[in-house]
Amino acid sequence: MKVFHKIADLQNELFTARKEGKSIGLVPTMGALHEGHASLVEQSVKENDVTVVSVFVNPTQFNDKNDLKNYPRDLDADCKLLETVGADYVFAPSVEEMYPTPDTRQFEFPPISTVMEGAHRPGHFNGVCQVVSRLFYIVRPVRSYFGEKDFQQIAVVKAMVRALSIKVEIVECPIVREDDGLAKSSRNTLLAPDERAIAPNIYQALKGSIDYAKKHSVAETHDWVVEQINSVEGLEVEYFSIVDGNTLLDVEFWESSNYVVGCITVYCGKTPIRLIDHIKYKEV
Ligand code: PAF
Repeated sequence: MKVFHKIADLQNELFTARKEGKSIGLVPTMGALHEGHASLVEQSVKENDVTVVSVFVNPTQFNDKNDLKNYPRDLDADCKLLETVGADYVFAPSVEEMYPTPDTRQFEFPPISTVMEGAHRPGHFNGVCQVVSRLFYIVRPVRSYFGEKDFQQIAVVKAMVRALSIKVEIVECPIVREDDGLAKSSRNTLLAPDERAIAPNIYQALKGSIDYAKKHSVAETHDWVVEQINSVEGLEVEYFSIVDGNTLLDVEFWESSNYVVGCITVYCGKTPIRLIDHIKYKEV
C-alpha cells in the first residue's frame, strides 16, 4: 500500500494503472476509520483492480469550527487498518493541496440537499460536493463507495453526479452497527463512557418504531420516536423526518410512497455529540 500526499504523485500512479486497463475504485473518507469504512474498502477491493482511499478532513463541509477542530485524526492508525483490508493507495492531502485557492462553487439540489441535514447544517452539503467532485476529478474512479449511514449524503452525491455528468457509479454500502445497535461512526470515539452507554437508545427507538408504525399513523410514529429518545436523559432529538427515500420530502401517509425512511439526528451528552441514523419503514 502506498500513501500519497500530492495530487500529481497519485495521478502519475493512477495513469499507469489506467493504461494497463485497470479499474479504479475510490472510497472517500475523513479518516478515524472503523469497521464501517473497512466494509466499503473490502467491497471496492472485490469489485475493482485498484482501490484508492482518500483520508481528508474537509474543512468546507464543517459549519462549526469546534466540530472541525475536534474531529478525530490518526493517519497512522487509519493506514494500519487500510493495509489489513487490501487498499492499494491512500490519498491524504493537506488542505492547501486540495484547495490551492478557495472553492467558490455553489452546489444546491433542492429539495434533496436543502431538507434535514441541509436545513440544520447550512453549507454542509455544498462542502461535501466541493470535495467529492474534486476527488472524482483527481482519481477518475469507475466506482465510488459510500456508507448508507449518511443516507442523505448519498442522495446528494448522486444528484451532483447527475448534474455534472460525472462518469462514476455510486455504490451504496449497508450501515454497520455495534453489537448494541449504535451505528458505527467516527464521532462515536468522541463519546464519554456515560454518553456511549445511552447512545444505543437511538437505534432501539427506531427499530421499535417499525412495529409501532404498523398500527399508527406517520405523525404518531414520528412523535413516539421523538418521545422515546427525548425521555432518555442526555439525548435530545434535533429532527426526525419520515420521508420518501427518493425525493426526501416528508411523507404524510404510509400509503403515499413505497419507499419510506425515517431519518434522525440526535444530540448526545454534554458536549454534545451529534449522531445520525435512519430506519427504513418501506423499501421498494
Ligand atoms: O462521509 C464522509 O466521511 C465525508 O462527508 C466525505 C464523503 C468523505 C466527504 O468529505
